[in-house]
Amino acid sequence: LKEVQTISSMASIHYIRQKEPLGLGHAILCAEQFIGDEPFAVLLGDDIKTSEEPALKQMIQAYETTNQSVIGVQKVDVEEVSKYGIIQPKNKSGSLHEVNDLIEKPSIEQAPSTIAVMGRYILNPSIFSYLKTIERGVGNELQLTDALRVVCEKERLFALELEGQRFDIGDKVGYMKAMVEVALKRRDLRHTFLSYLEGIVEKERANNFSH
Ligand code: G1P
Repeated sequence: LKEVQTISSMASIHYIRQKEPLGLGHAILCAEQFIGDEPFAVLLGDDIKTSEEPALKQMIQAYETTNQSVIGVQKVDVEEVSKYGIIQPKNKSGSLHEVNDLIEKPSIEQAPSTIAVMGRYILNPSIFSYLKTIERGVGNELQLTDALRVVCEKERLFALELEGQRFDIGDKVGYMKAMVEVALKRRDLRHTFLSYLEGIVEKERANNFSH
């Protein structure tokens, strides 16, 4: 009971439905009324990150030193660039890049690097006015990436290379990997779950992993 009560007092939850699938930029605009004139974090629910220091904490520290919007990035294989927003970095200090430009879901030929935007952002509220000026982009959607290009032009944008693992739970295998790996990191589950997995692998091995 205590555990459930603690969760319910951790935060005030506001929610709003995005009534049309017009893209991430549009989804963020829907939340404008809750945010007002403050920097805020965006976490895409299909990107799961695990690291010693939480990704968002690393990014908040970067925001506090730069006072500029910060996006979370990670290197990907070159064949994967067309799934992500890809940055063109300009200078780098440690794991923090200043971003010169970025492009949503480029082809391999168009991609300015292999540094991809993962679903974590700390944004200054000025993003709302940029989201209102951009046209629909890739997929005929209002793309956050296109509003971030305006940030590069009019302000400054930083990208922090995040440590740790990342799971794409919009993908079936990615979802299952996240469940297993996150469970194995929990002290209360690790032992029982690992024996269960061992049992499964043993059984499958006896059947020669046949289909
Ligand atoms: C969104 C963003 C993209 C980012 C990706 C991370 O794309 O538009 O820039 O790299 O999330 O997962 P989506 O996966 O929603 O198509």
